[in-house]
Amino acid sequence: MEQEINDFNDYFRSLLKSDVVLMNDALSFLSDSIGKMMRPMLVMLVAKSTGNVNEKTFAAAAAVEMLHTASLLHDDVIDESDKRRGRPSLNVRFNNNVAVLSGDYLFSMALNCTANTGDLSVIDAISVMGRELPNGEVMQVELQQKGSYSEENYLKVIYYKTASLFVCCSACAVYTAGGSDEYIGKFSNYGKYAGLCFQMKDDIFDYYSNDIGKPTGSDMREGKITLPALYVLRTSQNPLLEPIREKLSKGIYLDEKEIETLIEISKTEGGVEYTNSRINHYRNLAIESIPQEISSEYRNALIAYIDYVITREK
Ligand code: IPE
Ligand code: IPE
Ligand code: MG
Ligand code: MG
Repeated sequence: MEQEINDFNDYFRSLLKSDVVLMNDALSFLSDSIGKMMRPMLVMLVAKSTGNVNEKTFAAAAAVEMLHTASLLHDDVIDESDKRRGRPSLNVRFNNNVAVLSGDYLFSMALNCTANTGDLSVIDAISVMGRELPNGEVMQVELQQKGSYSEENYLKVIYYKTASLFVCCSACAVYTAGGSDEYIGKFSNYGKYAGLCFQMKDDIFDYYSNDIGKPTGSDMREGKITLPALYVLRTSQNPLLEPIREKLSKGIYLDEKEIETLIEISKTEGGVEYTNSRINHYRNLAIESIPQEISSEYRNALIAYIDYVITREK
């Protein structure tokens, strides 16, 4: 596994090039701060579990990581974030124009990598996922404006904006590795549950000060009410929540004092605990999705992957 990931890193970096000096500078800035590579890792892991890693697998993994990176570039412009991967974000190091356009460049490179697989199922899966990510982000805005906060809506949003990418990784892995068709559904479920766990874990980070590079409460400042807060908003009798519920139902953003209160109550009245119990629930569903016939070596690696997703500190 480690060998494949190292080879993949070299391959991925080698693609981040442009003839235009400023674009090339932006791409080399990205190449110097690659992320955790969670999605390519999933592609490699599922490919090895079901068949053989090959050039098509690498091309599909590059496509998903490029789409992911492009969506982060655009996300940081939208969120006006000044940090990413422990460094200044590209929109700050360069500017918004360069960030948006290098995101576009990466989207087109992802398209090219997808085409290089020569596999219509991969092209189909990636194009479906490419619509789901922005749909999830826009749905989040829509729900915030309507004040329609519920766990059900939260799950839909995180499925689209995050888990759909993990589903796509699993499916593309099986397609390119030549795995049997019956694996597609099962590994897609594994990817779905891993992705839901991944986003729930990420959402918990926002309730604490930490070194993942964003200040506590930044989700709420963007109008995003995640599961720990949704839980206490539904269950707590604490009178301090009354004005907060009122504002949220009208689509009004919370002020700093209210954000602090909602974070505190989410931590002290079981919201984070509840979210951790849901993460554990989805972790178990992910493990149950691994087909019986997968060898114990890869089964254990798939369990280690989901456990990394839920215990990671960044
Ligand atoms: C960040 O994803 C965006 C979310 C889905 C929360 P990662 O945490 O996987 O980002 P990198 O690629 O490792 O920086
Ligand atoms: C990032 O969203 C993109 C996706 C989750 C698809 P956020 O705005 O919630 O994440 P960070 O905190 O900037 O990584
Ligand atoms: Mg953001
Ligand atoms: Mg965002």
